[in-house]
Amino acid sequence: MNAVITAIGGFVPPAILDNKKISETVDTSEEWIEKRTGIKERRIADDDTATSDLASAAIENLLENYNVDRKEIEALVLATATPDHILSPTASKVCEKSGLTNAFGVDLNAACSGFLYALETAASMIESGRYEKIIVVGADKMSSIVDYEDRNTCILFGDGAGAVLLEKTESNYGLMKSILRTDGSGTSSLLVPAGGSKTPASMQSILHRSHFLKQEGSFVFKKAVASMSQVSQDVLAKNELDTDEIDWVIPHQANLRIINAVGESLNIDSEKVKVNIERYGNTTSATIPLCLWDFREDFKEGQNLLITTFGAGFSWGATCLKWGIMRDDKTTKSFRANVRKKSVLTV
Ligand code: COA
Repeated sequence: MNAVITAIGGFVPPAILDNKKISETVDTSEEWIEKRTGIKERRIADDDTATSDLASAAIENLLENYNVDRKEIEALVLATATPDHILSPTASKVCEKSGLTNAFGVDLNAACSGFLYALETAASMIESGRYEKIIVVGADKMSSIVDYEDRNTCILFGDGAGAVLLEKTESNYGLMKSILRTDGSGTSSLLVPAGGSKTPASMQSILHRSHFLKQEGSFVFKKAVASMSQVSQDVLAKNELDTDEIDWVIPHQANLRIINAVGESLNIDSEKVKVNIERYGNTTSATIPLCLWDFREDFKEGQNLLITTFGAGFSWGATCLKWGIMRDDKTTKSFRANVRKKSVLTV
């Protein structure tokens, strides 16, 4: 029994924060940001939009476009590092907003590796035979924890959400073996110091801006390159795949230089490495599903994908999957109809 992706949805808020605007508020330049990160702009949710709204919008996009009956969904695994509240779970709110009345919902926080961990969790639930249809969503409102006075971090992050439907299949399509890793010694290099049980909110914590994300950028950078490169090679070996059998690489989108370095270490054609960081920045739990959503037209039945991530914790990992047959996609159909109409007109 395998678990295969049969539908995808995505959502990014409409408001754009570009490098020009950032360079007007902190000591940086448009050129520096683009050259050092590959990011040109990111999407920012408004004050009334919470992570649960981003997640529900991505799920609605999935349910609508692929004609999925929401009543059939048995579970929702929500990867997020920016829950609506510390208590109660954001997944409960998402189940309510998305009308998933026959599903249970659970939050999973593994920072930038959250979606991959959630995918592995949901796939195992399906492979066990206990569940047949699970939605996995990665959603983050990073703008709620980013310090827009800190040039080391405010250039990097954006808001967004992506969702996939995982279904049972007896074919050989779907998720293969994964490798997931954590190393808690990396905690202090990338974290939001206050607001949790270790350092609850106080006047002091607010004064020190400790409710915002802090990062040792260049240390995290080096760790990300080394970990993603190694775990990608290991997961290929575990699945007995050669690099040239991989059709597409979907890397976590944290910095274009990290993505390029990982691609080079794998000795893989850069055309096969999917990149959308220039438009969204690092959306944490949402980068992988947003990439799958953005490039879904390129993936063909039977192709092999390699997904790899790295994030706070530290947390990292990789998996391979064989692309299967998607449910009927309204957006693809109208896209094809438009192409056909256009070519008829040209003739
Ligand atoms: N604009 C201009 N200069 C900046 C800057 C900015 N936005 N941010 C940092 N700098 C400066 C630093 O102050 C430093 O100056 P100094 O040499 O005078 O001390 C210099 O640029 C180099 O800093 P460094 O941190 O070494 O830069 P970098 O090339 O590593 O780029 C990051 C910084 C944050 C873009 C990069 O380290 C990064 O992307 N890190 C990993 C991010 C990541 O993966 N995070 C999440 C994990 S999922």
